[in-house]
Amino acid sequence: MPSAAAPSDSRRPDSLSPGSLPSGSWWRRAAIYQLYVRSFADGNGDGIGDLAGARAHLGHLAALGIDAIWFNPWYPSPMADAGYDISDYRSIEPVFGTLAEADALITEAHELGIKIIIDVVPNHSSDRHPWFAAALAAGPGSAERSRFWFRPGRGINGSLPPNNWQSIFGGPAWTRVTEADGSPGEWYLHLFAPEQPDYNWGSPDVRREFEDVLRFWFSRGVDGIRIDSAALLSKDAALPDVSGSELPGPAHPFTDRDDVHSIYQAWRAIADEYSADEYGGRMLIGEVWLPDTARLARYVGPGELHTVFNFPYLNCPWDADALRQVIDETLALADAPATWVLSNHDVDRVASRYGRSDTAFSLDRRAYFHAFPVDVPLGTRRARAAALLTMALPGSVYIYQGEELGLWEVQDIPDELRQDPIWARTLGADPGRDGCRVPLPWSGTEPPFGFSPAGTTAEPWLPQPKEWRDLTVSAESAHADSMLSLYREALRIRRSDPAFADTPLTWRHAPAGVLAFDRDAGGGQDTDGSPADRTWLDTTGPDPVLRCVANLSPAPVGLPANASVLLASGPLDDGLLLPDTTVWLRIG
Ligand code: GLC
Ligand code: CA
Repeated sequence: MPSAAAPSDSRRPDSLSPGSLPSGSWWRRAAIYQLYVRSFADGNGDGIGDLAGARAHLGHLAALGIDAIWFNPWYPSPMADAGYDISDYRSIEPVFGTLAEADALITEAHELGIKIIIDVVPNHSSDRHPWFAAALAAGPGSAERSRFWFRPGRGINGSLPPNNWQSIFGGPAWTRVTEADGSPGEWYLHLFAPEQPDYNWGSPDVRREFEDVLRFWFSRGVDGIRIDSAALLSKDAALPDVSGSELPGPAHPFTDRDDVHSIYQAWRAIADEYSADEYGGRMLIGEVWLPDTARLARYVGPGELHTVFNFPYLNCPWDADALRQVIDETLALADAPATWVLSNHDVDRVASRYGRSDTAFSLDRRAYFHAFPVDVPLGTRRARAAALLTMALPGSVYIYQGEELGLWEVQDIPDELRQDPIWARTLGADPGRDGCRVPLPWSGTEPPFGFSPAGTTAEPWLPQPKEWRDLTVSAESAHADSMLSLYREALRIRRSDPAFADTPLTWRHAPAGVLAFDRDAGGGQDTDGSPADRTWLDTTGPDPVLRCVANLSPAPVGLPANASVLLASGPLDDGLLLPDTTVWLRIG
């Protein structure tokens, strides 16, 4: 059983507030906690997080007020890419635990009203997967090789890669194999590390296998699947060179090709089939990084994925106009319930991003962003304001573990301890993602801060900054003004207040740099007001509303006179909303 006390409403059959949503569509506005197993909590003292650690802290997550947990890959893996290289899709990595523990975890989470989402990686395998071993052994032209992308090389004796594609992790996207007789052989495609050979989704074996993997986990009670690198699965079988100027879409040889959709349509049918059972609605969420929202929208809808991650929101700078534009574009996607994502295991943490003079982010410019000095107090103040802004938006919200503690990106990990293949494959030009994967601080005043059981001698797999003594779960639980207390209170209100049930967002006119909107339980109080009245100060509507006001400008702004403050991300100065502060108000 979980070690921490469960909250009083711990059995929440619908996961969300009473009467708000049928359990079948819980994912439309759930708060989903991203649990990076390796770094969450270590149950057995080897310095690496595991399922025992996750189970021991389920009570903490229930008390935090989340509705679902997304687990990063937990399968057997040689860990060339932290578990995104999977050698068995139907089992659990022994370092993390056993399948029986995963089953127990699913049951315990369900008892707490928490849904479970797991990560499925269909674009690529592990070079230790039995299928890849069989492909190597079977040789050129074999059925076994047709499940992957094997091709002869170009140039004299085939010594050059079949085309000019580059790996997303740096270096060529092709590696040459040695054939069984010892001769230099064919090349295989890997859009990521060489240990991650890409599947050929033209192969019926691959399609059947993944449909079966989905059934395997759905039948164990898993409630959702996060689909890794979802836009990359389909490739142009002619494998043409790229010029670099192709946009994602039908003309691109491996990103967002049209036939990728038939894969997810089949997966949706499977999810729908399981949604009829005792556990209720199953959901699919795609990891789709696409600049064009119209192309993104094609992934979502009744016949395909339930949702996709909102990466434009994550990449957006801390700027009112830019954020408003992303929010409007997101809400305009009619068939796609919005998701709001500030952070994940691939990107710099929010407190660091917003503490730089360039507050945007982009995966392919990490080194550029790391060169800026970080003002941690400023970044933290903005992270608090961003958390309240984000949690007030209609849709589901993803919270990457540690954001609720206000952890920052650890940029000074010693080179010899870095683990991310991005670091090694770019020869250090890209610092990689280790800095957001540092093990969580739970308690105490010295590393490992309760990450491993007391008396453990193994060090955490990445070193924790000693300053995190002030950011442990226990330290923050003791302070009403900590990031953890803010998250707990915001999630509590978001789950229990009718203003957050499927209500629309209505923008309010506000000064430059200020975002103001209402969530209106009464169904739109503004319809007959004159536009001039629709300011962030106006309180004349007939119905009570929840108003969110976020001040991203450099000057304080006033607040409506007769509003009550439900929650604020920072102190209010004599009724004024200070810069980099968000407030939730009850009007009426
Ligand atoms: C996704 C994952 C990332 C992983 C990559 C390859 O982008 O989020 O962590 O390295 O896919 O699987
Ligand atoms: Ca462990």
